[in-house]
Amino acid sequence: ADPSVQVPELLGSPLAEVRDTSALPLPPALYLDSEGRGRANSTGADLTAPAQRAPLQAALETCALHAVPEATAADVDAAMNRLHAGFSAWNATPVAQRAAILRRAADDLDARLAEFCALLVKEAFKTQADCVAEVREAVDFLRYYADQAEAEPALMQGRGVFVCISPWNFPLAIFAGQVVAALVAGNSVAAKPAEQTPYIALKMVELLHAAGVPADALALLHGPGETVGAGLVAHAHTAGVCFTGSTAVAQIINKALAKKPNSPIPLIAETGGLNAMVVDSTALPEQVIDAVVQSAFRSAGQRCSALRLLCVQSSIADGVIEMLKGALSQLHVGQPAHLATDVGPVIDDEAHANISKHVERLKREAKLLAEAPVAEPMPRQIRPVAFELPRIAHLGEEIFGPVLHVVRFEDSVDDVIQEINALGYGLTLGIQTRIDSRAQRLADEARIGNVYVNRNIIGAVVGVQPFGGEGLSGTGPKAGGPDYLRRFCAEPQIDAPL
Ligand code: NAD
Ligand code: ALA
Repeated sequence: ADPSVQVPELLGSPLAEVRDTSALPLPPALYLDSEGRGRANSTGADLTAPAQRAPLQAALETCALHAVPEATAADVDAAMNRLHAGFSAWNATPVAQRAAILRRAADDLDARLAEFCALLVKEAFKTQADCVAEVREAVDFLRYYADQAEAEPALMQGRGVFVCISPWNFPLAIFAGQVVAALVAGNSVAAKPAEQTPYIALKMVELLHAAGVPADALALLHGPGETVGAGLVAHAHTAGVCFTGSTAVAQIINKALAKKPNSPIPLIAETGGLNAMVVDSTALPEQVIDAVVQSAFRSAGQRCSALRLLCVQSSIADGVIEMLKGALSQLHVGQPAHLATDVGPVIDDEAHANISKHVERLKREAKLLAEAPVAEPMPRQIRPVAFELPRIAHLGEEIFGPVLHVVRFEDSVDDVIQEINALGYGLTLGIQTRIDSRAQRLADEARIGNVYVNRNIIGAVVGVQPFGGEGLSGTGPKAGGPDYLRRFCAEPQIDAPL
């Protein structure tokens, strides 16, 4: 595949370009979403467009969350035994039939866009634009993995019971993406969603069962990671683990798997990032600011792909910072259910306390550049904020919120990339430059999974920009890419003559 996919007409700027290090050719069935970006498959209505808001408003009024039961150790054991027993029949189900179930589920989810958007607003506090994008991404995963499985049916032999553990920040798209990838490859699946977002997971599992996934091929287990998650990882029937979440928890799971008597057991881990954008003196400041605001503050900074570190060449830094201050003053920090809201609250009190602690420390130790006002006060809001730091190395661990760190650099853009590499993470990177050869060289030097040139660094498109990191950011394979399903499959058996 051509690694440099030029799509200027989709991105609305003559400079804009996607240069994901593993970007795929654009699929034929491309359509444009409300932001003018190409998406791969799903074609649902844009519920944030003026003429189409009514279904989402109605769903927001009627949507109610319900408590879910936490699994006990006995529930975990019973579910794993049932899934172990159900594996053979599911694995023997023809791949075309498994793929058809995924497509049926995709159609149902597409049709229930408003309902699932409302759930995402209520349970995960997502803004309306984020909700629509997330449901579409989930639909894209379902259809893409169905197509991929049918393209290589002979390889789609499951390993047994796969444990899928997911985070709260994409409680539908990542949850569903993991589960259906493992299922269509032939595994039975024990799904453990994040404690903060159990009800969306329940509704998605109900939808999958209604589409035809047998009860003994998919079980949902709610509860804390330290007990229910750890119990699933430790179970004797676990044949593989697919985990998305923090680097620290991935390391705990990796150690737990290594100690098991039947180790090695495959672990697919997609984890955190300390993502940077490098802006040289030739970059267009207006384009930079738009990309920075989207990348750092959309979703209240609660994306693994979000921008944490903006590295600006000194000669244009003052101008860029001035524009950044203006942009922050215009952000609407408010209720997630209101269409005008750009930034909603963070997920829970613990997240709020952690991010606040970091912000308070930086207010004492770094230079505060700008802080957004609050338009509609509500609990657990963090005002989007930007600080200037003297050096890249001052950035330690991922802060999962709307906090941007800005560092100036003098001469060598290549040195900046080496310092970014030295952070050890490798999820997303932005490059803003008008020197084409420089963009290519920096993309080549960066040990980063997804590199974006002259645009924002969030919102990888299923089937177009396979998503995943290197180093502390994950094991690969990239979600939404052509290699993903194979890692859920058993090694192919070769019928060699005796
Ligand atoms: P987390 O690591 O705290 O939790 C993720 C999941 O792991 C949850 O379901 C949790 O219950 C479970 N868990 C916790 N401890 C466990 C244990 N000991 N054994 C088994 N399971 C356990 O992460 P989070 O706060 O839910 O999500 C935010 C993190 O996820 C951020 O670091 C973010 O960067 C990362 N993330 C990465 C990607 C990616 O694709 N790379 C995507 C989304 C989020
Ligand atoms: N896949 C999500 C993004 O690219 C996390 O923002």
